[in-house]
Amino acid sequence: MNVKTALVTGANTGIGKEITLSLASKGIKVVIASRSYDRTLPVIQAVKKMYGAQKCEWLSLDLESIKSIDSCADSFFEQNASLDYLVNNAGFAGSRGLTKEGFELAFGVNYFGHYVLTRRLKRALIRANNARVVNVSSKVHSIVKKLDFASLRKPTKSLSGINEYAVSKLANILFTSELHRRYASLRISSFVVHPGLVDTEIWRKLPFFLRPILKLKGMLTPEEGARNVLHCAFEASATQSGKYFSKCTPSLPSTLATNQELAIKLWEQSESWMNHYSK
Ligand SMILES: NC(=O)c1ccc[n+]([C@@H]2O[C@H](COP(=O)([O-])OP(=O)(O)OC[C@H]3O[C@@H](n4cnc5c(N)ncnc54)[C@H](OP(=O)(O)O)[C@@H]3O)[C@@H](O)[C@H]2O)c1
Repeated sequence: MNVKTALVTGANTGIGKEITLSLASKGIKVVIASRSYDRTLPVIQAVKKMYGAQKCEWLSLDLESIKSIDSCADSFFEQNASLDYLVNNAGFAGSRGLTKEGFELAFGVNYFGHYVLTRRLKRALIRANNARVVNVSSKVHSIVKKLDFASLRKPTKSLSGINEYAVSKLANILFTSELHRRYASLRISSFVVHPGLVDTEIWRKLPFFLRPILKLKGMLTPEEGARNVLHCAFEASATQSGKYFSKCTPSLPSTLATNQELAIKLWEQSESWMNHYSK
């Protein structure tokens, strides 16, 4: 039997961990790409124990560094020829700064790192001959009213980092629609998801007095959040490629997120950065 392969970023905890366990339960070999082997070990051990040693592989990936992304892609090709599911899940909110190559931290990690990873894995996605890319965005993208390209190369400006987080999540949506436009003819479908408000470690940077308010809003469990992502991997139709999903349903993102000119501009700018920094 031809075993399918998935790569999930940031799968040591939260939504990514639940996605990994669910993919493995379907007999899919999961390549976990994360920045700490030690923090990922419990997930690796759980998958191996439940589904067999050959069902899980770990690759080092720090999305703050293009060198790390390049080496993650190279290592992937050492063990695998094709990639059926790429889940660009890793992300954070609330930290401030710059990536190694000087991108605003949230933009660099949550969006640009995944852009480079996806482009570097293109050959494997084509070889799968019906691959799916699922990008994890957020409803919060809708607070962005303008994409200021100059600010993407400067340190995080806002104190909470939430504005920059929202920009990175807008970029995830623009990326997905352009990925669909460019890769659908290669039999690669692309989806972007708002997983819901989910009780995970992503809120650790939030001031402690705000956390009870989030809880009151009714947070989903990581398993429930993962279900929204898995819907795009398995149940959404290929004819829905390029779309933004919320609650397992295609939904309308913000007007800015549907601006095709902006999506093309972001893709082309990202490509030029990638050609400069990636090998
Ligand atoms: N939770 C929510 O309510 C919510 C809502 C909307 C969207 N989302 C999105 O859902 C996705 C998963 O988030 P989560 O809620 O499951 O959060 P989480 O529990 O904090 O998990 C985030 C994952 O991303 C990884 N990550 C962070 N920075 C990284 C980097 N530089 N390189 C590689 N990996 C990195 C983390 O690794 P470390 O353990 O090494 O830090 C962790 O594995 C994110 O894209 C987030 O924006 C979440």
